[in-house]
Amino acid sequence: MRNPQTIWFNWEKNLVETIDQRYLPFQNLIVEIRTIDEARFAITEMIVRGAPLIGVTAAYGMYLAALNYSGDDFQGAMKYAANWLKSSRPTAVNLAFAVDEALSFVSEEHTVSENIHHLFEYAESLKQREIDFSKKIGMHGLELIRSISNIKNGEPVQILTHCNAGRLACVELGTATAPIYLAHEAGIPIHIWVDETRPRNQGARLTAWELGEADIPHTVIPDNTGGHLMQHQMVDLVIVGSDRTTLNGDVANKIGTYLKALAAADNGIPFYVALPSTTIDWSLKDGITEIPIEQRDGSEVTQMEGLLDDVVHKFRILPEISPVANYGFDVTPARLVTGLITERGVCRASREGILKLFPEKIIEK
Ligand code: MRU
Repeated sequence: MRNPQTIWFNWEKNLVETIDQRYLPFQNLIVEIRTIDEARFAITEMIVRGAPLIGVTAAYGMYLAALNYSGDDFQGAMKYAANWLKSSRPTAVNLAFAVDEALSFVSEEHTVSENIHHLFEYAESLKQREIDFSKKIGMHGLELIRSISNIKNGEPVQILTHCNAGRLACVELGTATAPIYLAHEAGIPIHIWVDETRPRNQGARLTAWELGEADIPHTVIPDNTGGHLMQHQMVDLVIVGSDRTTLNGDVANKIGTYLKALAAADNGIPFYVALPSTTIDWSLKDGITEIPIEQRDGSEVTQMEGLLDDVVHKFRILPEISPVANYGFDVTPARLVTGLITERGVCRASREGILKLFPEKIIEK
């Protein structure tokens, strides 16, 4: 692994660097981000993706906006920058969370250079917070895996995951993959079923790449295979990530997650969602009606990308005249979620469960 982190500040060049996830697993390229527009482009084009990493990139974007500022209305420019970044992708709440928190550090009482300094400190601290959250999620999720392993007599714990909620979606370790990495490190036998995750194939391209780099046994499956595996006792546990979780425990995650939750419920298989509290939208109660679902470009459905003779090609895979739909996310209702694995522990996917872990969020009426 060249760098366990997915985003970092390059002090020599005075800019932000990240992995260009559009080219993995075929090429491992680094992208330089110098301006807020480049930060926004990285988010919209999915050079960076995954809720926590989008949040951290946006925080650096706010810093870069301040760094490159020239004019006579710094406060106004920063508010504009915040809205510009927030409009890049709608579903992952970490984006709005990071931008709003960054904005709260901008003060008229401070000089522009002091504000720049505070924004940089904020971006670095959010990055560190996400790293710490991932570690803690990993430790709590590890105990779930260990308890299943204890009754499997040395047989590998079979874990199914969807999309990429790995280190590439975060800064280090990931959310859904954090318990997986720690279980592997602890010597617990595991095997991961990796949903390919059409249309962009984040599972096949990114999760498989990550697990391969870490030598974790895994098998990539077409998205519609999970139900069959569950019916044949080939899955012990499902762990997915989240892009936005409501206060009542509804979970927005990559499209297709809901169908896995239904299959898991039908087969009595525990379905856990791993997420840092930066992914909880404390203002929402009903995920299905309230969470905005991103619709992405149809070309992600009409085309597939792959390697042919060592060159990456895009291929059209359906008739020219057929219209397509490309919803990026779906919402799994709380009733289908066995539990949430957060940095503070595992809780029920309910208002009561969440607030027991985060009592400071209780608003007295
Ligand atoms: O569209 P993406 O790739 O940004 O979507 C990200 C996901 O849905 C993740 O895989 C995930 O589960 C949430 S981010 C840890």
